[in-house]
Amino acid sequence: MSDPLALFGGNKVRTTPFTRWPIFGDPEERRLLRALRSGKWGKLHGDEVSEFERRFAALHGCRHGIGVVNGTVSLRIALMAAGIQAEDEIIVPPYTFLATATAVVEANAIPVFADIDLETFNIDPAAVEAAITPRTRAIIPVHIAGQSADMDALMTLARKHNLVVIEDAAHAHAAFYKNRPLGSIGRLGSFSFQSSKNLTSGEGGIVITNDDQLADMCRSIHNCGRIPGGLWYEHHVMSANYRLGEFQGAVLNAQLDRLEEQTRIRDYNGRHLAERLSRIPGVYPQHRPAECTRHSYHLFLFRLDPTEFGAPRAKVLEALEAEGIPACGGYALPLYRQPLFINKAFGPYLPNAAKDLDYAKVRCPNCEKICYEQGAWLEQNLFLGTQADIDDIAQAFQKVYEHRRELSRH
Ligand SMILES: Cc1ncc(COP(=O)(O)O)c(C=O)c1O
Repeated sequence: MSDPLALFGGNKVRTTPFTRWPIFGDPEERRLLRALRSGKWGKLHGDEVSEFERRFAALHGCRHGIGVVNGTVSLRIALMAAGIQAEDEIIVPPYTFLATATAVVEANAIPVFADIDLETFNIDPAAVEAAITPRTRAIIPVHIAGQSADMDALMTLARKHNLVVIEDAAHAHAAFYKNRPLGSIGRLGSFSFQSSKNLTSGEGGIVITNDDQLADMCRSIHNCGRIPGGLWYEHHVMSANYRLGEFQGAVLNAQLDRLEEQTRIRDYNGRHLAERLSRIPGVYPQHRPAECTRHSYHLFLFRLDPTEFGAPRAKVLEALEAEGIPACGGYALPLYRQPLFINKAFGPYLPNAAKDLDYAKVRCPNCEKICYEQGAWLEQNLFLGTQADIDDIAQAFQKVYEHRRELSRH
């Protein structure tokens, strides 16, 4: 038996910090200073955002990129560009950040929740199919944690029912499905550059697409409804100023130079940890289908079956934390259980449809099991270090497993 648990006064497995996030240096400083000194701080005048849009879109297999203020607005702009109308139904997973569903409400459309798969944590195409009605117009699969959703099945459904697919790739920078970049498979892809993300400028987002008309629409919507060749105060569609700024563009260009190598390291380390942890009874790392040819490991997801492991999730996470391994339980509620949805606190949106909606009746058993009992996460920065970091994480899990009975007693 190993040392006593750190939770009960033993030595920690891990005493040094993991790689800190964000990583930055001279390239970010140079670009930021250049943008500052140019005096061109807005996207419409400077070169940083336009350079970034081109490079990011190309890296993700798309001809067009539209840089915007965050990854929530990017979803809403994608929905509006796709022609979503009031009270259309949009299918979304319940295991995701709030924005995937609230962007739908902000487009005045109805989020319909379809359960996730227990092993992959991604939206289940069978549940999507069961949720389709004559009013369904779009599906927003989230590539959760940076692992591709089942895109072949979802695209087949979309073709059959004439639905738009908007990929929420907020977690999935430079990740692949069958060697195709995520974000380029549906009609539109949406990314976030908020602080925690694998590519970050503190805040920011982008819409990417290969559809010229949709790209024009997104450009207009994010720029106050302007059109190429139009007058400055000429506005054609419902829109606003959602433009990404030049300082963020500068940081993103420098960060983008780091992305490929960082993504390879995370993918290698994440795969390695999954292999190590799957040997421990009751620990189920996110199942990775062969089609996921590159995982971005924005998060490392796992299920912890308390019965098989022999201790409750909360205690295990507490013990890991004490060993120096930061871990958390992740999304604590399926989105349809958030007060916002239970109370239909939609503000001015969905005035008619809200009367008939009852999110309290929604049941997604896999999502509930993961949120309430079994789901847990490690964050991406843990995967940017060496093999020794991964060995420490695996060792801490093993140690906690060996001491599981004490954990249950306390
Ligand atoms: C899956 C998902 N979608 C959308 C978003 C929204 O991105 P932002 O925070 O940039 O608005 C996030 C951000 O955390 C996310 O995790």
